[in-house]
Amino acid sequence: MVDILNIIQSRRSAGVFSGDVDDLTIRTLIEEAAIWAPNHHLSEPWRFTVITGSARERIGHEWALIAANEMEIKEPARSKYIATESSKLQRAPVIIVVSQHVNGTAIQVTEDHSAVAAAIENLLLAAHGLGMAAHWKTGKMAYHDAFKNLIGVDSSDRIIGLIYLGEGTEPKETLRHRKTEEILRWVRE
Ligand SMILES: Cc1cc2nc3c(=O)[nH]c(=O)nc-3n(C[C@H](O)[C@H](O)[C@H](O)COP(=O)(O)O)c2cc1C
Repeated sequence: MVDILNIIQSRRSAGVFSGDVDDLTIRTLIEEAAIWAPNHHLSEPWRFTVITGSARERIGHEWALIAANEMEIKEPARSKYIATESSKLQRAPVIIVVSQHVNGTAIQVTEDHSAVAAAIENLLLAAHGLGMAAHWKTGKMAYHDAFKNLIGVDSSDRIIGLIYLGEGTEPKETLRHRKTEEILRWVRE
């Protein structure tokens, strides 16, 4: 019990990533952690797209061009924007894009979203427990059809998180500020 609480509480979003993450470890995170999340009606809505190697640079650059064109950014700001946006996927050696296959009623879609979020937390905790650095990110990429298209995610599906993964570094400290009294209500008779 203490071990699991320690893993939950010591997980922090990483700022810096180094090294590499091998394919077997990525499969372990997915097969032995993410997919064991609770999931109403066992719809298994999670999908995982791994971006690694030079694909990070290619996709980052193609994405940056699309975003710059869409925003009609002109030089000299355009080159700077493209360089910054292109480099985002290169912050970590591996990015696992976790998406939700959207299907069924509005309630199922909501519940499947929750299940995919729970799968991401499982993945993050497992990565942390195995000594890796990880960070759940979203941003413009996560909500743009062109980015989904670049990585082969159906446009009707939703990207719930881009999980940046790498070898561990010193974690940043993040404090939870709310007092328990602010967020906990008991209904007891
Ligand atoms: C749905 C979701 C989206 C997030 N998107 C981003 C993001 O785009 N960029 C970012 O730096 N962090 C993002 N985060 C990470 C949070 O900022 C981070 O979890 C929060 O600051 C708490 O820090 P901790 O993870 O170290 O506890 C996201 C987290 C969630 C749950």
